[in-house]
Amino acid sequence: MTMRIAVAISGRGSNLESLLRALQPGAPAAIVLVVTDRAEAAGLAHARSRNIPAMVLDPADAAAWLELLGENQIDLLVLAGYLRLVPAPVVAAYRGRIINTHPSLLPAFGGRGMYGERVHQAVLESGARETGVTIHLVDEVYDRGAVLAQQRVPVLRGDTAERLAARVLEVEHRLLPAAVLAAAAAGRPVVLGESPVTSHQSPGTSHQSRTRDKTPNSGSPGKP
Ligand code: GRF
Repeated sequence: MTMRIAVAISGRGSNLESLLRALQPGAPAAIVLVVTDRAEAAGLAHARSRNIPAMVLDPADAAAWLELLGENQIDLLVLAGYLRLVPAPVVAAYRGRIINTHPSLLPAFGGRGMYGERVHQAVLESGARETGVTIHLVDEVYDRGAVLAQQRVPVLRGDTAERLAARVLEVEHRLLPAAVLAAAAAGRPVVLGESPVTSHQSPGTSHQSRTRDKTPNSGSPGKP
């Protein structure tokens, strides 16, 4: 059975685009709905060009979220550059079935206010030698849920936030689809590496990925 996916975005939508590319007809999962908190989000164009319904939702209106996800029979909600908290009743109703991509090695450089260029600027200012990408389950707190997959990205001499962001984003564009395909194969989000579809990951993804938490429902503490 095809896993029915909703993707939430707030901006450019390049991760949405990478998912749409990975989920061609015949894939075990399909994006059937795109939601946003910002009507002007550029990434909505990716949905419209493929005739995927794109809806603006009030980030605080849990009832509207639940109704929309319910009537579209959504199995998995993917936050792909969605910058707001998912309403707590939605997290409760879809616990273990909401995932997020974050452009650092959580719990480092995560939490409220840590998004976009701020993350990479903070990495550079800290003097860290590496950063990366984390795919994790979503709970009621920003960037706190259990880790499903992480991949490291080295910080290079002379990096700017912009250059680092571009290299991290390339990795996100492989790791998020790999996590979604693994979820589709297993019927729910799984720790990458335990899934039967790891061999479908892009070259360079599987051997560099590392997993941290073998119990995806346990949650892990993050920054306030
Ligand atoms: C990604 O790096 C995502 O992890 C972060 O914001 C960026 C969104 O990029 N939260 P896009 O909108 O998918 O192009």
